[in-house]
Amino acid sequence: MKSSSTKRQVLIDLLSYSKDLGLGDIVLDDSTREEILSADLAKRIKLEEEVSKTENNQSSAAKSDWIERLSEMNYEALQETVNLCRECALCETRNQVVFSDGNPSARLMIVGEAPGAKEDQAGLPFVGQAGKFLDLLLASVSLSRKDSVYICNVLKCRPPSNRNPLPDEIEMCTHYLTRQIALVAPEVILAVGTFAAQFLTGNKLPLGKLRGSTYSYKGVPLVITYHPAAL
Ligand code: URA
Repeated sequence: MKSSSTKRQVLIDLLSYSKDLGLGDIVLDDSTREEILSADLAKRIKLEEEVSKTENNQSSAAKSDWIERLSEMNYEALQETVNLCRECALCETRNQVVFSDGNPSARLMIVGEAPGAKEDQAGLPFVGQAGKFLDLLLASVSLSRKDSVYICNVLKCRPPSNRNPLPDEIEMCTHYLTRQIALVAPEVILAVGTFAAQFLTGNKLPLGKLRGSTYSYKGVPLVITYHPAAL
């Protein structure tokens, strides 16, 4: 014996079929075929909306849990988590995760954009052309990469062909950066380039407009400058 929902579905299918065949209207229990079919459509749309709302609630609860877990991690746990990250599609194309270089106890933290080809091969930030220039700039003010600074990026994985980071990638990956900054607890942050500057100031103005003022990132003085690759 068929259930009433199966019988109802058979009826809906028959009514749709009769409509597709161009048969004249059918009236059942004072309702026309059109009324029955549109009521069924409205019911299905409502059900789909409810399912998608439940799924969204579940995924935002899972994301809140994830952010909460990150906020409790120590440096080693965070690094290990980032090294295994599969939260966005960049994990499919990266060779290596690029977490940081330099000294995690440094007073100055430099935040760049994302690894390029050389960084993706080496697993270290700023080791290509732009990195060599950064080292030179640091040396000119008697700072060494190894001891005096901590270097990382907004994104920990290389965007294919060095394209700009996408909003979704920035949204996910900056949860790592936020914890990284909290753990390193620098005295000053230097943001190099648009993406680091915009994320850390929370302001979408172009770099040229953001540059030239000192900001505060959660109480830490934040200075913004051009990306060494642009100099
Ligand atoms: N550019 C960046 O922003 N970061 C790197 O690590 C290398 C190049």
